[in-house]
Amino acid sequence: MKRTVAVTGGTGFIGKHIIDNLLSRGLNVRALTRSSRNDPRSNITWIRGELEDLESLARFVDGANFVVHCAGQVRGRSEDIFAQCNVAGSLRVMQAAKESGSCERFLFMSSLAARYPELSWYANSKYIAEQHLVDMASGISLGIFRPTAVYGPGDKELKPLFSWLLRGILLRFSSIETRLSLLHVSDLAEAVSQWLTTEQPHTHPYELCDGAPNGYDWNRIQEIGASIRNSSVQLVGVPLPLLKLIANVSTLASYLIGKEPMLTRSKIRELTHPDWSASNKFLSKHINWSPKIDLEYALRNGLF
Ligand SMILES: NC(=O)c1ccc[n+]([C@@H]2O[C@H](COP(=O)([O-])OP(=O)(O)OC[C@H]3O[C@@H](n4cnc5c(N)ncnc54)[C@H](OP(=O)(O)O)[C@@H]3O)[C@@H](O)[C@H]2O)c1
Repeated sequence: MKRTVAVTGGTGFIGKHIIDNLLSRGLNVRALTRSSRNDPRSNITWIRGELEDLESLARFVDGANFVVHCAGQVRGRSEDIFAQCNVAGSLRVMQAAKESGSCERFLFMSSLAARYPELSWYANSKYIAEQHLVDMASGISLGIFRPTAVYGPGDKELKPLFSWLLRGILLRFSSIETRLSLLHVSDLAEAVSQWLTTEQPHTHPYELCDGAPNGYDWNRIQEIGASIRNSSVQLVGVPLPLLKLIANVSTLASYLIGKEPMLTRSKIRELTHPDWSASNKFLSKHINWSPKIDLEYALRNGLF
């Protein structure tokens, strides 16, 4: 019998790729949306609702065998904005999944940031959500994915950095020794589907990255850009006081335009952390998944 996957966040960057991957495998998808959708594809049903509304979440998970909870708050000017969505919202999705009586597996899209909850409101909200979900999950297999920075078609956050790199300028916003890791969104979507369909899922916070040994440093990214351009790339350091000033201005502007800011003082602590290298060791071992796209391949082939 065809299995049904309920996906939150399917209107966002990562969730869209997850849905495409699930549909390509012939699974049925129920997708939560806050706005009306007209989707001509078969096997997908969009359910109007939101994380704040338990009734809509009950309709959303109705009959689903698996839940992928990918909706999340990635930008915000206060701690409460992250806590409301990423903690309280996630617990409501789990509650609905449990009450449905049909959910066997629940995959929570956390973040590598949860490794250091002290760094930012976002990191802390993901970490706390993970803890509560583990406590609540009895009877449901819970998977926790901690992807590093994700990029690919539809991404708006890293795209400017890569576009500038290919024009010959790399903006460095953390120390030269920083270890970064990256993950292409199609590899993440593939990992989600594989975790859902693996025979015996493990409850484990899994880190995910593109497998570059020890991640990238700024010089390596500069080298990749130069080799693709066949010309040099200027590495331009953005001083911390300037980053802080931009964060202050964008936080202030967010009040005026009514949109949540990405760059805040809280986010800077996360961005400038010196070690964001990650390892696929546990996930690869448990679900036989390995990433296929590294940064050089993605940039050479316009996959961003
Ligand atoms: N992008 C990354 O580099 C990265 C790395 C690690 C982890 N993650 C995690 O991956 C997930 C998806 O990230 P993304 O980059 O795809 O973000 P995104 O493009 O901003 O998408 C966020 C999604 O969550 C939905 N959402 C937010 N609040 C909601 C609410 N209250 N009720 C219902 N839906 C809500 C949004 O719906 P609307 O379309 O209606 O706004 C959208 O579909 C997040 O949980 C994020 O923390 C992302």
